[in-house]
Amino acid sequence: MYLAMVFPRYFSLFSISVSLVLVLSSRLEAAPEDSLVTNLPGFNGTFPSKHYSGYVTIDSDPQKNLFYYFVESEGNPSKDPLVLWLNGGPGCSSLDGFVYEHGPFNFEASKKQGELPSLHLNPYSWSKVSNIIYLDSPSGVGFSYPSLATGDLQTASDSHAFLLKWLGQYPEFQSNPFYITGESYAGIYIPTLASEVVKGLKTGVKPKINFKGYMVGNGVCDSEFDGDNSYVPFTHGMGLIPDGLFKEARAACQGDYQKHSEDVKCKRIIAEIDNVVSGLNIYDILEPCFHEKFPETTTKNTSLPTSFQELGKTDKPLAVRKRMFGRAWPYRAPVRDGIVPMWPQLTQSLHGQGVSVPCINDEVATAWLNDEAVRKAIHASEDSGSWSLCTSLSYNHDAGSMIPYHKNLTSAGFPALIFSGDHDMCVPFTGTQAWTASLGYKVVDQWRAWQSNDQIAGYLQEYAHNLTFLTVKGSGHTVPEYKPQESLDFYSRWLQGQEI
Ligand SMILES: *[C@@H]1O[C@H](CO)[C@@H](O)[C@H](O)[C@H]1NC(C)=O
Ligand SMILES: *[C@@H]1O[C@H](CO)[C@@H](O)[C@H](O)[C@H]1NC(C)=O
Ligand SMILES: *[C@@H]1O[C@H](CO)[C@@H](O)[C@H](O)[C@H]1NC(C)=O
Ligand SMILES: *[C@@H]1O[C@H](CO)[C@@H](O)[C@H](O)[C@H]1NC(C)=O
Repeated sequence: MYLAMVFPRYFSLFSISVSLVLVLSSRLEAAPEDSLVTNLPGFNGTFPSKHYSGYVTIDSDPQKNLFYYFVESEGNPSKDPLVLWLNGGPGCSSLDGFVYEHGPFNFEASKKQGELPSLHLNPYSWSKVSNIIYLDSPSGVGFSYPSLATGDLQTASDSHAFLLKWLGQYPEFQSNPFYITGESYAGIYIPTLASEVVKGLKTGVKPKINFKGYMVGNGVCDSEFDGDNSYVPFTHGMGLIPDGLFKEARAACQGDYQKHSEDVKCKRIIAEIDNVVSGLNIYDILEPCFHEKFPETTTKNTSLPTSFQELGKTDKPLAVRKRMFGRAWPYRAPVRDGIVPMWPQLTQSLHGQGVSVPCINDEVATAWLNDEAVRKAIHASEDSGSWSLCTSLSYNHDAGSMIPYHKNLTSAGFPALIFSGDHDMCVPFTGTQAWTASLGYKVVDQWRAWQSNDQIAGYLQEYAHNLTFLTVKGSGHTVPEYKPQESLDFYSRWLQGQEI
């Protein structure tokens, strides 16, 4: 088997936030006390805000038990926005976001084999400015159980049911402005859930969700804009393939790499492009790829070059994970309607029933979240089985293109921030830039740089209807992991309605 056939392209984290209301300025304190997290193994200090975690049960046959971890804002929890975060995949746990992206802790791996990581406070946690719910969705992912066949529409409906019940349990957050956020395959989860929320508002479902907008990072959207139509121009624009090959591809595929992907000549040239870029880390073309190029023929215990260990350092105290190919879908598979292919069976399961994700090092999260004391502390049920970063699901992409959803949501007045780490080859910015422009909205803030820490951190273009497309310069697929400070900057400015 060739890895080139299987390196996956979609892995996503997605988050949503909900906030509730103050009644006559007296804050309700109804959060379920038995969900309070009072200690976490590996952390010695005082929590900077309250944490809760547990399950919300969705009435269905069989019942679905959806796991969440909720971090109150370290600012003003009663006023700050409530944000829901969802990781994508489909099949990836949102605790990926909690551990590796914008959670309250940085996890430092132990130097000793078999010891748990140490937790340090993350100065760029999104809980600095928002209340944030990390939700394992759909059922079967992360600590949520059981695993059932599902799809986009069912997942959106279940997540909506989750929100209503959660707000019922935490009524003090019903009045906070609520946002839905996430990345990668959550590019599907977010608009479909937002659409359910808006429908619920129209029909007067209680409690009323104070929905204010949504954010999507490196998100999947539409099979024509994503996939090869974003990938081929990306490889050329990034200097990964020569002009000649790009011109040949454009001619052979008549400028539409998706539509003509099965034409013999077009297919052959795209295979050639795949071959040229095949050693790269698709989640960040600047990062090394921690992979075995030909697993059948190379020795598995080759020690990594030391330069590799040095790479991936950010201004977080921890290096980003070393990703290789392999997060989600087979390489070059766009978001087609129908059953979503999961990680290839040739990937051996390293972590119990879970699917191990090749190319990334998820050992810290896997060790920590499978530790008995940790699971007890966060109220994870034994019935959920062992935790793995991404789980194989029977999942149907049945919501089609997200473009009609974005049109409806933005024209109904819900602000949207669509952002892209510009060095991600998994869901390249080229496709996202193209579909946002395709909505045809008037440009109200022409392409310009935005700054963080007095440096250019990326570019943005703002459209009418509060639609913003923003790039994060030099970032890979999971933006807050690669660019934590810049991410907290654009996140907080956008949530506060300030100019980014
Ligand atoms: C936490 O405390 C224990 C026991 O005092 C100590 O061994 C450990 O190193 C401390 N961890 C951190 C992260 O400070
Ligand atoms: C590692 O590789 C060496 C040389 O190729 C071999 O002798 C050794 O048995 C290997 N160790 C493991 C644990 O596979
Ligand atoms: C968008 O709105 C139109 C008009 O209300 C409606 O017919 C259509 O079903 C909506 N599409 C989506 C995807 O929500
Ligand atoms: C953009 O959002 C702001 C605040 O969220 C709102 O006041 C304004 O009306 C929105 N503009 C449009 C065109 O929807």
